[in-house]
Amino acid sequence: MVAIVAALLVALLIPTAGPSASTSTAGTPPGAAEPDPTHALPADTLVTPPVLRNASREPNTVEVTLTATPTTLSLVPGSETAVFAYNGMVPGPTLEVYEGDRLIIHLRNELPEETTVHWHGLHLPWYADGSPFHPIEPGGQADFDFVIPQGTAGTYWYHPHPHHRSAYQVAKGLYGAIVVRDRDDPLPEVAEKLLVLWDNRFLQDGSIDLPEAQSMQGRIDFENGREGDVLFVNGQANPTVRIRPGEVQRWRIVNASAARVYRLGLQGHELLYVGSDGGLFEKPVPTDDVLIANSERIEILVRGTAAPGSIVTFQDLPYDRYIPQTRPRSWDKPRDLLTLQYTDETPLRMEVPSALRPVAWMDTTDVTARRVMVLTQGFINGKTMDMSRVDEVAELGTREIWQVENLVGMDHPFHLHGFRFQVLARNGVPEPFPSWHDTVNVPKHETVRFIVQLDDYPGKWMFHCHILDHENAGMMGILEVR
Ligand code: C2O
Ligand code: CU
Repeated sequence: MVAIVAALLVALLIPTAGPSASTSTAGTPPGAAEPDPTHALPADTLVTPPVLRNASREPNTVEVTLTATPTTLSLVPGSETAVFAYNGMVPGPTLEVYEGDRLIIHLRNELPEETTVHWHGLHLPWYADGSPFHPIEPGGQADFDFVIPQGTAGTYWYHPHPHHRSAYQVAKGLYGAIVVRDRDDPLPEVAEKLLVLWDNRFLQDGSIDLPEAQSMQGRIDFENGREGDVLFVNGQANPTVRIRPGEVQRWRIVNASAARVYRLGLQGHELLYVGSDGGLFEKPVPTDDVLIANSERIEILVRGTAAPGSIVTFQDLPYDRYIPQTRPRSWDKPRDLLTLQYTDETPLRMEVPSALRPVAWMDTTDVTARRVMVLTQGFINGKTMDMSRVDEVAELGTREIWQVENLVGMDHPFHLHGFRFQVLARNGVPEPFPSWHDTVNVPKHETVRFIVQLDDYPGKWMFHCHILDHENAGMMGILEVR
């Protein structure tokens, strides 16, 4: 008896492979619009990171405390892992604000080592950038206070950025999402899911596999950037999300992986690609899959076009970013990220708006400087990072075009701190529509051109490859805006 009940539970809870695995409509009267609460459908197993508690009573002000501590969590079933965590969780809690809000952050470092927190993609004063210029000692703390600019609604994220230690601290569990909301969001009716992607590797005892730099695996990690064989969505392996037939869901996706580039696709579904790092496009773009390089964010609309009871998989599809010598053996196999399970409710009828928000192209006529960044393995313009050197000098308030040329046979995602940009062309092909980015993947032997406006905040801003192992090794430079 117990075994039968257990088997039934398993059948309910564990999605079986393949589409249309369950078409049971038991308990749902035909034509019923509302879900029947007595009908035991499993809920989402996907856990959403909680939103950071706002301690402020002032209007348009968000005041939060973030503490980085060592702790122990179960990341893979059956074992405990020593991690570093923000407010005790991996990923850290989500920082949620509206455009125009004043954001006050109290940061505490309870780690046994120096750290910083970089608010990746936000336009903010230099002191608050969390770059290696502003380390926080163990036991130390720092306060940040700045305003989120209008027009920057989008998905961002935070992660440590201490000199030479970002890869280690992110591998240990330090990363979290930032959502900047627009009070006039064009998709108010659409249910939202936040999906923070991360990967990791574990030893038998559950500890995080961080090999010696000189070992064979250490060298491969250095070359490729460290990838893990366990893929996480919000800290969970292959969680389940439910969708009602006909429903439209908005998925905000953050790639918090150190090196893994995901080509995302949903079996048997066309996706609507609606946003990049800096938020929504002008209109939805239908596509079968979307590439998201590490540190990038995307927004997609998932439309419940399959039959009630269907079960499909959201996958990381093969994408060859590697040099052949260190390409992982299973690079060409799709990997499951998340299971989408259709309810057997009657289909909803939901429309997707054809216009999202206006995004104007930046004017290219009054550009004051053009810069070329040549990427080779571990170097930018032939140099590695020197904290006491300024590589590029720009004038505050000006607009520039940067051309990033990748001369080598693996992809390098290029990130600029502090200022968002618009990609103008990829490998000579003009970008079809304007969108906001702070990171752009530069594929092997290709060139990307972007335009950037260096407004508001003077300072020394980093630009670097966002493969964290490359960044740690100094594939980074400094732009001084003054
Ligand atoms: Cu995501 Cu220099 O950072
Ligand atoms: Cu790189």
